[in-house]
Amino acid sequence: MSLTSLVNHQIRLASRPVGLPNDSNWSHTTEGVTEPAEGGVLVKTLALSLDPAMRGWMNEGKSYIPPVGIGEVMRAGGVGKVIASKNPKFAVGDHVSAGLGVQEYMLIPEGEIKRSGLVKIDLRAGTLTQWLNVLGMPGMTGYFGLMDVGMPQVGETVVVSGAAGAVGQTVGQMAKIKGCRVVGIAGGAAKCDWVVKELGFDACIDYKAGPGAVRDGLKAHCPKGVDVYFDNVGGEILDTVLARINRKARIIICGAISQYNNTTPVQGPKNYLSLLVNRARMEGIVVFDYADRYHLAVAEMAGYLKDGRMKSKEDVVTGLNTFPDTLLKLFKGENFGKLVLQVAAD
Ligand SMILES: NC(=O)c1ccc[n+]([C@@H]2O[C@H](COP(=O)([O-])OP(=O)(O)OC[C@H]3O[C@@H](n4cnc5c(N)ncnc54)[C@H](OP(=O)(O)O)[C@@H]3O)[C@@H](O)[C@H]2O)c1
Repeated sequence: MSLTSLVNHQIRLASRPVGLPNDSNWSHTTEGVTEPAEGGVLVKTLALSLDPAMRGWMNEGKSYIPPVGIGEVMRAGGVGKVIASKNPKFAVGDHVSAGLGVQEYMLIPEGEIKRSGLVKIDLRAGTLTQWLNVLGMPGMTGYFGLMDVGMPQVGETVVVSGAAGAVGQTVGQMAKIKGCRVVGIAGGAAKCDWVVKELGFDACIDYKAGPGAVRDGLKAHCPKGVDVYFDNVGGEILDTVLARINRKARIIICGAISQYNNTTPVQGPKNYLSLLVNRARMEGIVVFDYADRYHLAVAEMAGYLKDGRMKSKEDVVTGLNTFPDTLLKLFKGENFGKLVLQVAAD
């Protein structure tokens, strides 16, 4: 089939949501596909990473990355296959990862290659979906947030929220490998069972189990207090953990998913004076700051995947057109593992 006969289905941001996104925030469009010019590459999207951060990119306003413009193809990281190349570094058939957007094909001109993050991926190190999870952006977030900011020491207690999610599963497993006691916080018995029985966490607190569940769980499972808290959710859970930190604790502010769809101001930590009393530190991270060291984390964690010390769970939903509904799974706690949208078969 000639490239020019291909049709590129795309999903674009039509308007900015208030609260949870809905169908009116999206438009479905089609475009033709064109051959790359000299130095460019044409990639067929195989799978996309659906991330909580997408909700932030839909908002107007300053952040660590500009918002997606109205009418633009929605930003998304993904993995795909090169189907045409005029660049000697990429051959037809190569598997790659890049900011592909919520669309079936992405034409990357030479001048955009660096900005798109286009890199080859090696399927001997991990499967396509693992390259969106432990070996991809969430895995890099968990790895560098924990290791560089959390600096876990053998025997310390590490608590991680969003424990059964993409970032959380890497954090907890890395902390176990580094010799820590690891306590997860997740929504529901099934997720808690999984992180303990399958991933080897020491305990997991079901924050949906009832009022006081997190406070009581921390008391029971962190008898020596909390040395490192990796926060994926913010809100009340952050406050509850702050009440149990140790002297010189490190709190990694990775995300605050409980606040992303707020229509009222973000709930900040009420217990922040616990940082003062405990001479503790709270520090935000943005994964892209570690891009020049991703290869080191990938090599280390690919080794753990191979020798069985790490597992990687993805929740795969099929079909580009399901994107608007599938994205919402993240905010309803309906994803179990890294949420991936499969767009085409390899
Ligand atoms: N700073 C960075 O560079 C960076 C990079 C990647 C991700 N992040 C952040 O890391 C966090 C986790 O991302 P992820 O990709 O790994 O997502 P994820 O954990 O795979 O999925 C989101 C999970 O959040 C939980 N959740 C949703 N609403 C919640 C609420 N109101 N209270 C508590 N938990 C809630 C749900 O799990 P339960 O069923 O357990 O509730 C849901 O499954 C997000 O905050 C994200 O923005 C930051």
